[in-house]
Amino acid sequence: MRLKSEDLKSLIKTKLHKAGLNEEHADVAADVLTFADARGIHSHGAVRVEYYAERIAKGGINTNPDFKFEKTGPASGVFHGDGGNGHIAAKLAMDEAIKMAKESGVAIIGVRDISHSGAISYFTEQAASEGLIGISMCQSDPMVVPFGGAEPYYGTNPIAFAAPSSDGRMITLDMATTVQAWGKILHARSKKESIPDTWAVDSNGEPTTDPLNVNALLPIAGPKGYGLAMMVDVLSGILLGLPFGNKVSSMYEDLSEYRKLGQLHIVINPAFFTGIANFKNSITETMSDLNQIKPAPGFSKVLYPGQNNDIVIEDYKENGIEIVEDIYEYLKSDVIHNNQYDHKNPFAE
Ligand code: NAI
Repeated sequence: MRLKSEDLKSLIKTKLHKAGLNEEHADVAADVLTFADARGIHSHGAVRVEYYAERIAKGGINTNPDFKFEKTGPASGVFHGDGGNGHIAAKLAMDEAIKMAKESGVAIIGVRDISHSGAISYFTEQAASEGLIGISMCQSDPMVVPFGGAEPYYGTNPIAFAAPSSDGRMITLDMATTVQAWGKILHARSKKESIPDTWAVDSNGEPTTDPLNVNALLPIAGPKGYGLAMMVDVLSGILLGLPFGNKVSSMYEDLSEYRKLGQLHIVINPAFFTGIANFKNSITETMSDLNQIKPAPGFSKVLYPGQNNDIVIEDYKENGIEIVEDIYEYLKSDVIHNNQYDHKNPFAE
């Protein structure tokens, strides 16, 4: 079914507010989740609301956090999230990074002690909409086998990038360092679909097509994705003095305890390099160059990175955002949560 963006956001906000988030935090969380669904990133949209609602209701997200921004150098800082909602903490930290990069040319801000922050291109697009380059990366719970390993160690540790063009668009990258994000498994579960056998392994380490049978995810491109996950964990975890590797708390364990996840925002101001106008013009040119590359057999057009999301945005603006019926039913119901996420096996339904 299809919903207007403002209606989806309002349903999500109401549910998270009822679960216990204050209005401001619920509003930002709903904005980040709607942002994801509006781009076709359904793995990080409304499908997550019930999980968040359960964690909030059980006290595993601080609904009254003492957020503090600590400037640690001319172009660096740490945002203390105090176990609060990750969406708003990461957003406020990016606001600080934007201010700092406007002044200093660059900014590197760590965000610590937060819960899950969703589709992290939300934060890089904050920077790009201010004419800056945004980079963000974060830890997530251990569910990925290291190259050559049979047990999970790293999370799906995503990396996002956004840069502005001269015509209001952005070139973006937003990817988990796994073949697929865990949310894609959740989405397949919610739609009762099978998954390709290249995404994940079962408890024997064998590839599986059943989303209910997943025991660990596979990194992209073997040792290369494994190395990127390591880099994300070092920069957004170890650098901030946070738990790292398989000591990162699981999303689905101890729903009554605060999480201590880390995220790192890097913002670069093109004014301190080639100049804003030149930079934006060249981004526009490179997007156009890419669109003009001769397509390979089976492709009608080469898209610039992120253009797949831009196409979905246009469709949804006209026709409404596509939402799974069961999720819509849950959102408009009075149920806060069905107590289905709080258990020790992150991979079980
Ligand atoms: P994906 O595989 O759907 O897309 C990866 C990238 O490829 C995107 O930048 C997308 O725009 C680009 N792309 C896809 N098709 C394209 C095409 N035809 N032409 C050009 N570019 C194309 O993304 P993935 O890895 O499934 O991640 C989904 C979301 O999950 C992201 O928003 C990520 O931030 C989020 N995530 C969040 C986590 C967290 O703990 N907060 C953990 C892991 C993922």
